Amino acid sequence: MNTPLPPVLVVDDEKNMRLSLQTMLKDEGYTTRLAESAEGALEMLAGGEFFMVITDARLGGMSGYELLGRIRSRWPDLPALMLTAYATPKLAVEAIKAGAMDYLAKPFAPEELFHAVARCAERHKLLRENAALRARAGEITSLDQIIGEAPAMRGIRQMIQTVAPTDARVLILGESGTGKELVAGAIHGLSRRRGLSYVRINCAAIPENLLESELFGHEKGSFTGALRQKPGRFEEADHGTVFLDEIADMSKPLQAKLLRFLEDGSFTRVGGTQELRVDVRLIAATNRNLTQAIEQENFREDLYHRLNVVQFHLPALRERAGDVGLLAEYFLQVFRVKMNKSTTTLAPATLAKLMSHNWPGNVRELRNVIERALILETTREIQPDSLPEFERDHHRQKAQTLLVTPGESLDDALGRLERELINHALETNGFSLTRVAESLKLTRHALRYRMQRLNMKLINENGPGRENAET
Ligand SMILES: Nc1ncnc2c1ncn2[C@@H]1O[C@H](COP(=O)(O)OP(=O)(O)OP(=O)(O)O)[C@@H](O)[C@H]1O
Ligand SMILES: [Mg+2]
Repeated sequence: MNTPLPPVLVVDDEKNMRLSLQTMLKDEGYTTRLAESAEGALEMLAGGEFFMVITDARLGGMSGYELLGRIRSRWPDLPALMLTAYATPKLAVEAIKAGAMDYLAKPFAPEELFHAVARCAERHKLLRENAALRARAGEITSLDQIIGEAPAMRGIRQMIQTVAPTDARVLILGESGTGKELVAGAIHGLSRRRGLSYVRINCAAIPENLLESELFGHEKGSFTGALRQKPGRFEEADHGTVFLDEIADMSKPLQAKLLRFLEDGSFTRVGGTQELRVDVRLIAATNRNLTQAIEQENFREDLYHRLNVVQFHLPALRERAGDVGLLAEYFLQVFRVKMNKSTTTLAPATLAKLMSHNWPGNVRELRNVIERALILETTREIQPDSLPEFERDHHRQKAQTLLVTPGESLDDALGRLERELINHALETNGFSLTRVAESLKLTRHALRYRMQRLNMKLINENGPGRENAET
């Protein structure tokens, strides 16, 4: 052992068993502490650090199963090994259900014990490294940092809490700067995988020809420059979470490979033949309009359905104008502390100016605006002068959508606008035709008729996934 590990806690009511475990582990370089009851073990756990627990299933007072239950709720990351008197599948299931990472039937060979303990030691090391990394990166794991009191934002926080502890795949949609990455981080941070790897891959930032090897790894010599074998990021993330950002930017061939991986969990490295398997939870995000990408055949519909088990749609900031003030105050406090400035509030005219802007860059834009204002501001209140001139940008934006482009007829331009409006309504209503029809004050029939006339594909008519339920 080169890294000093905290001790193993051994719990058994038989003295001989305790001592023989202690001797075996000592020979392998582990230190131990011994408890003769579950009650005693809980006391010791509360008082010191351990890297794992080994407990007999049957103990004098509280049983080993009950002990594991308590450990799970108080120290969810502490691995435990259960010892049972004889091996039956039923007992194994009981042990795992109670929260054991592994179980051994007595009598067992020392190698079996060492193997199980080594796995726990490995896990402990991983947890420790990850905690250190996270602390360094200042990773956000708390819901409190997702600001917003608009009903949609409250709903999102609620849904994160519901979905995070499951292993369900998550698809996060929303315009640029609406907080998709923040939500992905919170889902991992509140999941059972929180202590383990969180690997984020930005599919748009990696050149197309390298992305496959980045994700799935490659064998030595599989392409020019592949000087040695390299495991991919999916392997690196084993037991943890992978966040595939900008998923719509992935090439069609790679989409096909990802689909196969999502279907049966197996893949091969680039240039390899060996089927590999990993256990990862997938979160994907994009700021593109996926409906449109599917229509234009840039994104596979079957992949969309695979990814889209739970969908988050983050509202644009202009759809929750009430949150502008809250967010502005929040960023003001964050940057004020960082920059050590005495500016503490927004002048009322500043707030009014912020509220009148339509925020095409969403929360990210607001964050930048406040940061810049704080740098410029010399008084205790942020004055409207310290904000950029929004008005002109706003008009330019509007003009672009409303302009008939050269070569386009008025009807074409109207069709384009209508398609944009319907697409937007689809996205904000979780793709439920019923809700979209309601929001546009049309009957469902009329909406379908229009969509057909506009050549829009009704992708979610019968698709799986909860957001598609035609409620
Ligand atoms: N609800 C929120 N509360 C607090 N900060 C937020 C919120 N939403 C976004 N932010 C902040 O705004 C910035 C942009 O958010 P984020 O990177 O998550 O956006 P995104 O949706 O991933 O954008 P893109 O599509 O461009 O990648 C980040 O600094 C993030 O911390
Ligand atoms: Mg992002």
